[in-house]
Amino acid sequence: MTSSIKTHREGGVLTLTLARADKKNALTNAMYGALADAIDSASSGDIQVILIEADGDTFTAGNDLGEFAAQGADSNEERHVARFLKNLATTSVPVIAAVQGKAVGVGTTMLLHCDFVVLAEDAQLITPFVNLALIPEAASTYLLPLRVGYARAFEMFAFGKPVLAADAMKWGLANKVVPKESLGREAKQVADEIAAKPAGSISAMKTLMRESDKVLTQMRTESSIFSERLKSAEAREAFAAFAEKRKPDFAKVRSK
Ligand code: COA
Repeated sequence: MTSSIKTHREGGVLTLTLARADKKNALTNAMYGALADAIDSASSGDIQVILIEADGDTFTAGNDLGEFAAQGADSNEERHVARFLKNLATTSVPVIAAVQGKAVGVGTTMLLHCDFVVLAEDAQLITPFVNLALIPEAASTYLLPLRVGYARAFEMFAFGKPVLAADAMKWGLANKVVPKESLGREAKQVADEIAAKPAGSISAMKTLMRESDKVLTQMRTESSIFSERLKSAEAREAFAAFAEKRKPDFAKVRSK
């Protein structure tokens, strides 16, 4: 499968697996496209729960940095990330995430749109947007302060240091922390339990709890600033540093 997204349906549960473990499940445009399509068809079909999980030791290393660099250089390829985030934010189907290892960038911000988050004990939530000279996305500039409070959200975004599973749990970013070996089983159990509930009631309740108009407006605003940041000299330095396996030197590209 070229998009590196595996889909599997069992009963009313649709499992979407990030399957690019050799690249730490870094998300490509094709992967966003496959995720967007899968959520879209689940939302209009008879799926009761969407479960997002990942192969390997890392939930996801976030957006593919090679693709970010190409986008900054004005690639004309159609981008699916906005469609993925919009579908994830607005689906009335409950979404569960099972997270092991690092969840970087969108790997963490997507969790704010999930309805039940199960973390393995080794999970780490990392939001290094500013370290990459970018800004946070997925309406996280609105949703993260709301969820964890401004002080913690600012610190997470400004420093990009890992938030460990136990803190993520305390701060309300997750529902459950489980041993790594039982992550898949525990998440599937929650999915089956939710799938057995009256689907119309769960969907209506979820839709009432989510402020989709506000969230979509914030996503659009973030997206236009994000696109500008991608083209900045600072971001080009950050992507070059990752490709060359060195620390970025922002002093040399410091602008006004
Ligand atoms: N985009 C593209 N490729 C990525 C990637 C990303 N976001 N993250 C990891 N990879 C690739 C690496 O280039 C490497 O490829 P190679 O084997 O061809 O050299 C492979 O995945 C393994 O990554 P590596 O860095 O060797 O693994 P690690 O265990 O030492 O570190 C991470 C894992 C996730 C901590 C580290 O890869 C990382 O920091 N990635 C970038 C995360 C990031 O900034 N994402 C953007 C968020 S907005």
